[in-house]
Amino acid sequence: MSPQDQIAQFKQLKHTITRFMMVYKFALDEMETKIEILKEEFHLLHDYNPIEHTKSRLKSPESIMNKLFRKNLEVSLPSIKNNIRDIAGLRITCSFISDIYKICDMLTRQSDLTILEIKDYIKNPKPNGYQSLHMLIEVPVFMSDRVEKVCIEVQIRTIAMDFWASLEHKIFYKYNEAVPERLLQELKSAAESATALDRQMERLHVEMGEIKENQVL
Ligand code: GTP
Ligand code: MG
Repeated sequence: MSPQDQIAQFKQLKHTITRFMMVYKFALDEMETKIEILKEEFHLLHDYNPIEHTKSRLKSPESIMNKLFRKNLEVSLPSIKNNIRDIAGLRITCSFISDIYKICDMLTRQSDLTILEIKDYIKNPKPNGYQSLHMLIEVPVFMSDRVEKVCIEVQIRTIAMDFWASLEHKIFYKYNEAVPERLLQELKSAAESATALDRQMERLHVEMGEIKENQVL
């Protein structure tokens, strides 16, 4: 192949990858708008904010490739689309545990979304103590010439769960995945403290709601 042909082929490949990734960005944009709408409406109806903040991220081409190799998957765009379901990720941080399930229900009821999977690591925490509600959601993205169905990984958690997960993530990487037993124990115990705090905050929140209701009556 001549150098010119190689350059043309490279440009074509770059264009194809950019176009492929763009659809995931659009899907995230759509989901973020949906969450913003729920947040504003909820605030208006209930006078408090169930969502503290949201954060979205697109997996880098490098970590997509790493995951393909790690899982021994074919290196092709269809294989990436079918097998890697966390290219687009959205993390929603809530004030209270009950808000997590409210948001999950509200998203489940939206007729344009297809819920592919729900993993409830709050009812069933991971052995290390990790808690969060994970949803895999298929979002339709309307392009100029087609509709693409795009999978997004949505993680919904409380502030305490998020605090724990970000520290655990840092420790995990610092020790290159071989975390000393003592730290693992401490992390587990910190996760239990986070759960206790979440439950206490939930009780206070319910009590506050009841006081407010009585004031209205
Ligand atoms: P992957 O193929 O690695 O994405 O795992 P999976 O398909 O079994 O997904 P799972 O729902 O278990 O986890 C997906 C994502 O949740 C991860 O990429 C992390 O962002 C988060 N997560 C899961 N487990 C942990 C954990 O133990 N600690 C932290 N900090 N995050 C976690
Ligand atoms: Mg993942």
